[in-house]
Amino acid sequence: MDNRSKQAWEGWSIVGAVTIALSLVVSIEAMTAIAPVDGIRGIIRTTARSSFALFALAFTASAVHHFWPNAWTRWQLRNRRYLGVSFAVSHLVHLLAILSLGRIAPVELAADANAVTWIFGGLAYVFIALMAATSFDTTARLIGPRAWTLLHTVGSYYIWLIFANSYLSRAAIIPAYIPVAAVVVFILGLRIAARVSRANRASSLPSR
Ligand code: HEM
Repeated sequence: MDNRSKQAWEGWSIVGAVTIALSLVVSIEAMTAIAPVDGIRGIIRTTARSSFALFALAFTASAVHHFWPNAWTRWQLRNRRYLGVSFAVSHLVHLLAILSLGRIAPVELAADANAVTWIFGGLAYVFIALMAATSFDTTARLIGPRAWTLLHTVGSYYIWLIFANSYLSRAAIIPAYIPVAAVVVFILGLRIAARVSRANRASSLPSR
C-alpha cells in the first residue's frame, strides 16, 4: 500500500467510504426488489450484516492486536473509533429501514417486532447514539475517561448481546445462519481470552 491509499483508509475517510458503500447498496436493493416491502426487508437484512461486520472489527480490535500484532491488526486498532462510528451509520440505516417498513407494512413489522424487541433493541440504539456522540475528542474529554470506558464497555457488550440474540435464534431454526452465529460467539471468546491473557501476563511480571 502506498501512502496515499493508506491515508484513504484511515480515520474519518473510513466513515465516508462506508456511507457511500451503504448508499449504493440501499439504492441497488431498492431498485432491484420486486415489491417495495421486499426491498425494505432486504435493506434491513443487509444493514444488519454490514453493521455486524463493522461492529465485530471494532469489538475485537484490541484482542486481535494482542494475539496477532501485525500491520493489519495495528490498522484495526488505530481505526477502532472510526469502525465504531461506521457501525453506528450502518445501524442508523437499519433503523430508518425498520421505520419505513412500519409506514408501508405496519402489520408485517408488528409480526416481526413486538414490544420486547422495541425495548431491548431501543436500548441498544440509546447506547449506539451515546457511544457515537462520545467518539469525538471534545465529547470524550467532556465525560472523562472513567465514564467513557464504562459507557463504551457496557454498551459494546450490550450490543453484542442483541446481535447474539438475533443471530443465534435464527441459527436455531435456519441452518444458513449457523456460520454467522458461530462468528458472534467467537468474537466474545476472543475478547475474554485476551482479557485473561493480559491479566496472566501482568501477574507474571516480576514486582519491584
Ligand atoms: C429498534 C428495535 C429494532 C427493531 C424493531 C428491529 C427489527 C428488525 C426486523 C423486522 C428484522 C427482520 C428483517 C427481515 O428478516 O426481513 C431485523 C433483523 C435483524 N436485526 Fe433488527 N431491529 C431492531 C434493532 C436491532 C439492533 C439494535 C440490532 C443489533 C445490535 C439488530 C440486529 C438485527 C439482526 C442481526 C437481524 C437479522 C438480519 C438477518 O436476518 O440477516 N436489530 N430487525
